[in-house]
Amino acid sequence: MTLWKYTEVGHNQDAKKEAVVFNSESVFATPKPERLIERILTLGSNEGDLVLDSFLGSGTTSAVAQKMRRRWIGIELGEHCYTHCLPRLKAVVDGEQGGISKSQEWNGGGGFKFYELAPTLIIMDAHGQPVISDKYNPQMLVAAVAKLNGFAYRPDAEVFWKQGISQDSSYIFVTTEYLTAAQLDDIARDLPEYERLLICAPAFDIGLGKRYENIDIRKIPQSVLSKCEYGVDNYDLNIVNPPELDEEEWDDVEQ
Ligand SMILES: C[S@@+](CC[C@H](N)C(=O)[O-])C[C@H]1O[C@@H](n2cnc3c(N)ncnc32)[C@H](O)[C@@H]1O
Repeated sequence: MTLWKYTEVGHNQDAKKEAVVFNSESVFATPKPERLIERILTLGSNEGDLVLDSFLGSGTTSAVAQKMRRRWIGIELGEHCYTHCLPRLKAVVDGEQGGISKSQEWNGGGGFKFYELAPTLIIMDAHGQPVISDKYNPQMLVAAVAKLNGFAYRPDAEVFWKQGISQDSSYIFVTTEYLTAAQLDDIARDLPEYERLLICAPAFDIGLGKRYENIDIRKIPQSVLSKCEYGVDNYDLNIVNPPELDEEEWDDVEQ
């Protein structure tokens, strides 16, 4: 009773024909036909549901989910992420007419966000100590530490220590240099009492953390390690209650 004939759900040759449209030079080796995924999503989901394919391949699941008005998350680690998934999903949003488009009366619409996973921020050195990976340039480091601490990366053109801002208008300054009391006093002089500042530095003079009521100081990499999980088998991701963002104000943050 569960036999799905290729006349109903397509076959591998259909799938290759669908995939070749998005990259004729290198056809993905094992694509699935859109009709097969359409049937699975019809049985297992409703419009607006979230569909996850963590082995996206040529992008069939996300393409079908988009055409069937589902939300989706696709994850892929191969280069064909750029050569197949991305062009395919852009074309789908633009109203591509292959696969199940006709049966779904799909004429394009919606959109998606494309993220690249960054390299590991903290690595162990030869002595087993956590250190910042040299794959991170200063700009990447500031952006990553800011995000982990709840700040949007937004360097101020004039004030060097205003590198990020949080929703309650406090600022973050990330430095890879040792922080002295004199440097902190210079910064504090320009910080009005009603504003707050978080400074992340590898090391600093004793007692600096308590020197100003509106300036917090944290050590990196320790402050990063306290926010991340490393070396566990199960990384729980809370996608049921993701953090709320004010779309308009924070749109640029998410790019
Ligand atoms: C059989 S293909 C999926 C085919 C896909 N369903 C389609 O119709 O095009 C499996 C994919 O999983 C990807 N993959 C393997 N391990 C992965 C991982 N750990 N994270 C993300 N993608 C992975 C491979 O690069 C490959 O493209």
